[in-house]
Amino acid sequence: MSKVGIFGAGWVGLVTGACFAELGHEVVVRDVVPEKIDTLRRGEVPFHEERVPELLQANAERVTYTLDVADVAGCEFLFVCVDTPPTYSGDADLSRVWTVIEELPELEGRPVLVMKSTVPVGTGEKVRAGLDQRGLDHVGYVSNPEFLAEGRAVRDFMKPDRIAIGDFHEADGDAVATLYAKIDAPIVRSDVNSAEMIKLAANAFLMTRISFINEIANVCEATGADVVKVAEGVGLDHRLGPHFLRAGIGYGGSCFPKDSLALKQLASNSGYHFQLLSAVIEVNELQKRRVVGKLKRHLGSLAGKNIALLGIAFKAGTDDVREAPSIVLASRLLAEGAEVRAWDPVADARKLPKGVEIAATVAEAVRGADAAVIVTEWDELRDLASEQTRAAMANPLIVDGRNLLDPEETRRAGFAYEGIGRPVSPSDVLPQTPEPAPAHEG
Ligand SMILES: NC(=O)c1ccc[n+]([C@@H]2O[C@H](COP(=O)([O-])OP(=O)(O)OC[C@H]3O[C@@H](n4cnc5c(N)ncnc54)[C@H](O)[C@@H]3O)[C@@H](O)[C@H]2O)c1
Repeated sequence: MSKVGIFGAGWVGLVTGACFAELGHEVVVRDVVPEKIDTLRRGEVPFHEERVPELLQANAERVTYTLDVADVAGCEFLFVCVDTPPTYSGDADLSRVWTVIEELPELEGRPVLVMKSTVPVGTGEKVRAGLDQRGLDHVGYVSNPEFLAEGRAVRDFMKPDRIAIGDFHEADGDAVATLYAKIDAPIVRSDVNSAEMIKLAANAFLMTRISFINEIANVCEATGADVVKVAEGVGLDHRLGPHFLRAGIGYGGSCFPKDSLALKQLASNSGYHFQLLSAVIEVNELQKRRVVGKLKRHLGSLAGKNIALLGIAFKAGTDDVREAPSIVLASRLLAEGAEVRAWDPVADARKLPKGVEIAATVAEAVRGADAAVIVTEWDELRDLASEQTRAAMANPLIVDGRNLLDPEETRRAGFAYEGIGRPVSPSDVLPQTPEPAPAHEG
């Protein structure tokens, strides 16, 4: 068993640490935020992710948490799991990665620095040069990008579709592969640049599928087809497969938006205009805003209307609200003059724009509402179309941004219903209040 140091106690760092400990390795997790380390030392996890608290607790004797970088000195592997957010230009901000390289303590033997953070292609070569300059040429370097999805992160780590390992020296890649010996998954071995690109390309492809099915959904709406049926029929084609064909209000989260921008910028910095990816990004931005149009079609002007936003997290199973569609939607609704009340079972609603009221329960969110919008596919919302909801709402309209509910059942329960890419029944569109006449100046 090996001794593994981990830089970063975020989603990737803690999941990696918890899973390596479960696989029998000794783990030292280092972060720079004292509150995070305090929380972890108390036996709590600073964010919501299934199974992470249990794994960390079950393997507590093999996991330590520290602020002191010297504590990773004896580790054979040093995993970099720090955040790489976008800069103003859209390029990945690698400042935290460089801080890690600068902070590395004296290291004995041949430890391997393993990059799990998502970084632009070419980063490994720069880090290699940086290590050499610091006199750390005895430290190996391996790219081992992470593919986990929040909400199912432990499962994804323990049963991955593949493990990508890119190295400059085969022996370093071999050493990293041994850490995963108990995991049954294909290992793709490559050079460092290719491993970095595998991660960016995989994410870009997933986003492309989402924007593709969202555009199909928009055409379905215009033509009377049902995107749920269309996706089922398309997904059964073995050349295409069923995954990432759920139409909705667009992707969000800490990875897709920033990684798509980073790849687009990487391409354009190298002189290539990645047209397809630019379109994927634009389609996603427009998709988040389409809900506003749907609401207006039913309610007319949204000024003074009460809208319940159900779900704040960018997807179910996580409390992560980074780049969540809920934020864009809430801002747009406030700009239209609507009163917005939001609910989420775990996400931190304070991340929403000022002016959004926070409800503790779904019932409280929909009370007196002119419309309820399903933003996150939480299980708690599956029985939203109930008698209680209908009675509580001022106007029984559900806009289902995740196609979570059955349209027919919802309509039978007395609601006007609109999903994404699903046929609209004429009886759904309620009489509209006329837009207020524009004020005349002077
Ligand atoms: N979250 C995901 O679903 C996911 C999936 C795959 C890949 N990734 C990638 O993994 C990386 C980490 O993502 P995340 O979501 O875990 O980020 P995060 O923001 O949740 O966590 C990053 C952590 O690194 C810490 N940190 C910053 N500088 C540090 C330093 N010098 N030493 C030690 N710790 C330091 C931060 O305090 C923070 O706790 C990113 O590059 C991301 O793109 C994320």
